[in-house]
Amino acid sequence: MRSHYCTDLSKDNIGEIVEVCGWVNSYRDHGGVIFIDLRDRSGLVQLVCDPDDSKQAYDTANTVRNEFVLKAKGKVRARGEGLTNPKLKTGEIEIVISELIVENPSKPLPFVIGDKDVGEETRLKYRFLDLRNEKAYERFAMRSRAAIACRNTLEKLNFLEVETPILTRATPEGARDYLVPSRVNNGLFYALPQSPQLFKQLLMCSGFDRYFQIAKCFRDEDLRADRQPEFTQIDIEMSFCTQEDVMGVAEEVLKDIFKVCGYDINPPFRRMTYKEATETYGSDKPDLRFDLPLVDVIDIFEKSNNEIFSNIAKDKKRNRVKALRVPNGDNIFSKRQMKSFEDYVRKFGAQGLAFIQYKEDGLKGPLLKFFEEKDIDELVKRTRLEVGDVLFFGAGAKKVVLDYMGRFRIFLANEMDIIDKDRLEFLWVVDFPMFEENDDGSFSAMHHPFTMPNNIDDDIEDITSVAYDVVLNGIELGGGSIRIHKNDIQQKVFEKLGIDEDEQREKFGFLLDALSFGAPPHGGIAIGFDRLMMLVTKSSSIRDIIAFPKTQRAQCPLTKAPNIASDEQLRELGIRLIKKDRK
Ligand code: AMO
Repeated sequence: MRSHYCTDLSKDNIGEIVEVCGWVNSYRDHGGVIFIDLRDRSGLVQLVCDPDDSKQAYDTANTVRNEFVLKAKGKVRARGEGLTNPKLKTGEIEIVISELIVENPSKPLPFVIGDKDVGEETRLKYRFLDLRNEKAYERFAMRSRAAIACRNTLEKLNFLEVETPILTRATPEGARDYLVPSRVNNGLFYALPQSPQLFKQLLMCSGFDRYFQIAKCFRDEDLRADRQPEFTQIDIEMSFCTQEDVMGVAEEVLKDIFKVCGYDINPPFRRMTYKEATETYGSDKPDLRFDLPLVDVIDIFEKSNNEIFSNIAKDKKRNRVKALRVPNGDNIFSKRQMKSFEDYVRKFGAQGLAFIQYKEDGLKGPLLKFFEEKDIDELVKRTRLEVGDVLFFGAGAKKVVLDYMGRFRIFLANEMDIIDKDRLEFLWVVDFPMFEENDDGSFSAMHHPFTMPNNIDDDIEDITSVAYDVVLNGIELGGGSIRIHKNDIQQKVFEKLGIDEDEQREKFGFLLDALSFGAPPHGGIAIGFDRLMMLVTKSSSIRDIIAFPKTQRAQCPLTKAPNIASDEQLRELGIRLIKKDRK
């Protein structure tokens, strides 16, 4: 129907007869001549409907309203002197219309397209309108280019794209499963995959050697700005590989994706152990666009004459005392502000937030009286404290202190506005613990139970694993590991997790079988594609780069999913509902 997209046209086309199609972005009548800004996915072009050139076009133009769908034919001409619009790609030209067709009128829209003040619920209800703008189109064009670049790179590296089932059994990745009732197997349920983890390992057992998939995953978990219940992973697995091999492939994929999105990145990325990341930055996904490290001062606190501090400091295994130096902080923040920061860390379990200020006339703070002079000197030396700085302290249980001090570090960086938003700081976090302790004292796998442990026979809290995460600007982009390829080690891991032999056979019998029929050494990674695109497009929410996302309550206001099932459907599935109050 068209000869050009709107913004294909330029001064080069002056004098040509062209046909364009699109939506009325705006229209105005200037002394008997109607100007229409026509919009298609590429952008805008100005149409001129002058009764002297075409009465038909002018009369039709008189009937149009915003968002009417038009087809227009006319001649490209230069805009008159002083009438060019440098903000518009096609700002130097316009099309004098000879023929105008309304392909479809439109009712007045529920909101102005691109208006940022419209509530999310409404925008998602009319998602097809919400996406009807250049910026949204650009984001999805970028997503499409990124997916194609990913495929091309992996194909070049000899990977095979294989699809794995959506109707399957539970795959343990730590979230709840979405269940699908089976009609033909009454009373039984499929689970939607939380990831293709086990299938990709089975493909290695089949000798496929290098697999990838741009895979849909489903996790029933609490939603946040960077989480959706269904999301996409770039899922990779390879045989006869080391951790370095997998990281190399992931870096290559990321480099090529960033390239088509307009960024040159330079792998190899920096590496840091899990221990260093958590001890120095209070997080296993540290944002390295700014410094503000946490400094260990537990030994100094042990010597203090304050019993609370010295008691905390005695248990070096379970507890931590961390100092965070804020350069020039005493000049940036008022004392009142410094005190108010306590409210922030209390939300994450802190008992308090002591601080000392380094004034021109010396150190100030109620804490100082608990220490001897030489210990204070050591504190100043170790934290490199200078006049004008403030030093904040976190003390208590290891997990809690590292968590709130890590958050506080980011909080301060935002308060001080020291994060360079244009920087891309990639990082590999390596040497993860194999297990983590739950609040009830039981243990879960930190990545998943198929990760290769380094020292399976050690105490459970000391076991580390060949697992790695790739982090960008403080967000976990992806995670992977070298897998267990031997049946006996896999069984030991299940045992440590409290999964007895019967349960092992029942849930993972197929995996244990596969591992006993000549499974090769193998490993892989999955990169969160939505998260990646959220960062690449500098979007504030993962929903911006998913065409039809769910709300925070895991609902789709557009299709009104999830929806009630009819009695007939439930009967067929053999399901009776327990009545719950539906709000
Ligand atoms: P993991 O569970 O770490 O690993 O997931 C890999 C990456 O997927 C992304 N991701 C999500 N993105 C959006 N919404 C969610 N709810 C969500 N959950 C996870 C993250 C994360 O880093 N099978 C393993 C991979 C492997 O070992 O190969 C796995 O799924 O960016």
